[in-house]
Amino acid sequence: MVDRGFLGTTPLAAERDDDSYLDFVEGVRVFNAAQVGPVFQQKGTEAIEEYRSKTGRQITSLAEVKQIIEHEPVIATRNRVWRWSQEGIWNGVREAYKAREAELLAELDRYEKMGPGSVQWDPNFQYPEYFAKVDFHIQPGGYYADPLAGYIYHYGTKVFFTGRNNNDDVQRGLCQLLPTPADGQVRRILDLGCSAGQFATAFKERFPQAEVWGIDAAAPMVRYAHKRAVDMGLEVHFAQRMAENTGFPDNYFDIINAFILFHEVPTYIAERIVAEAARMLRPGGIFCVEDFANRKLGEVPPMSEYSGFIDSTYNGEPYAPEFVHSDFTGLLKKYFREVNPNYSDKSWLPIRVATK
Ligand SMILES: C[S@@+](CC[C@H](N)C(=O)[O-])C[C@H]1O[C@@H](n2cnc3c(N)ncnc32)[C@H](O)[C@@H]1O
Repeated sequence: MVDRGFLGTTPLAAERDDDSYLDFVEGVRVFNAAQVGPVFQQKGTEAIEEYRSKTGRQITSLAEVKQIIEHEPVIATRNRVWRWSQEGIWNGVREAYKAREAELLAELDRYEKMGPGSVQWDPNFQYPEYFAKVDFHIQPGGYYADPLAGYIYHYGTKVFFTGRNNNDDVQRGLCQLLPTPADGQVRRILDLGCSAGQFATAFKERFPQAEVWGIDAAAPMVRYAHKRAVDMGLEVHFAQRMAENTGFPDNYFDIINAFILFHEVPTYIAERIVAEAARMLRPGGIFCVEDFANRKLGEVPPMSEYSGFIDSTYNGEPYAPEFVHSDFTGLLKKYFREVNPNYSDKSWLPIRVATK
């Protein structure tokens, strides 16, 4: 097997053939979004409008939307191609990395003893049921069951972002937008649900003097995140811990961050995570959350609710609808002194900033 180096910060597959297949999947995603997506929106919206004007009724349920639009061929085509491309990502990436499994596992073992930075994980970790039962994004085994899940997730999300995150551009871009606490003190930073560690390394690049931690429920994620940070020469500490019960001391961090974590946990866990972040932050410290916008049911056009439903049902996102329809700002206000629900107009996702 050949180590073919990196595309940006993503390790290339061992075979050109695998990269070529994944490049094709990426192309299909671009085509589906750019060419099929607008027709899907237009046909769906037209069908709903026609139904409204014929019946004089407002649409109140998703079941009704499905009944009205799903006979349009472009609706099923867009959904199927989208699902196919998601399956294609995991099939392609798994094939590429599984062929190198023994070598990559040995690599993770070797890096564990290397610095800068560190990694802690527990081979007997008890995963909570709400987490363990879901194959998020339909990645086989979800975030944790496959020991190569970190490698697979990183390359998979590179394809998912269709070229927009080859160099951690998403995490680096958001990190640059975040404020610092009002007194300017940034000594310790924690990234919750860090996955491949791309936000944690972005924090270390922005605040080189700070002690930076990334935690994640999944062992394969923190193991891979550590390997990546070592390759980048960045001193970041990774640990396998649940965001709702981290074991860090009270008042320890100046900044705590969570990028697209909250829509992947049930709302009762979301409240525990917010409470835990408030406990760990020092007075004046900030909690930054980049995640989907919240809305009341019926507040957005039916086609947007429908797209959310497709993502939730066919892309392993069972908790996303309850997060999207929850009052997350209200939850933050319960635990924090000050909350800005939309800190930056330069961000593609709402950035909530809560101050202790
Ligand atoms: C969508 S990914 C987050 C992406 C990541 N923040 C990034 O910068 O790419 C969600 C991550 O959160 C982790 N996770 C989910 N629930 C968790 C919890 N309760 N505590 C800690 N990590 C959790 C998952 O294992 C997964 O790696």
